[in-house]
Amino acid sequence: VLNWTDAAPVDDVPTDDVIGMVIDGKDLALYSVEGEIFATDNICTHGHARLCEGFLDGHEIECPLHQGKFDVRNGKPTCAPVTEAIRSYPVRIEGGRVFLALD
Ligand code: FES
Repeated sequence: VLNWTDAAPVDDVPTDDVIGMVIDGKDLALYSVEGEIFATDNICTHGHARLCEGFLDGHEIECPLHQGKFDVRNGKPTCAPVTEAIRSYPVRIEGGRVFLALD
């Protein structure tokens, strides 16, 4: 059973863009791609950079520091120099709010 945390109003996540949020003490990145919301850890696995300061292109987030890329749907690395996935989180939308399973 997933434990859902009420993270934010859907409207707080900018369309086809990324926003950083600290929720339950975790630094997270929320993405809106083609009307769907995704959530991952916000800190790059390659260095100490916040992905919310990077560039979102479709389902790929580009790290602002060395331009490594991750797929926001599953956190998998898609471009060097990143080799390690970031964690991604299940998302549920209800009543205009974003809920995340953070456990
Ligand atoms: Fe993200 Fe280097 S810190 S690619």
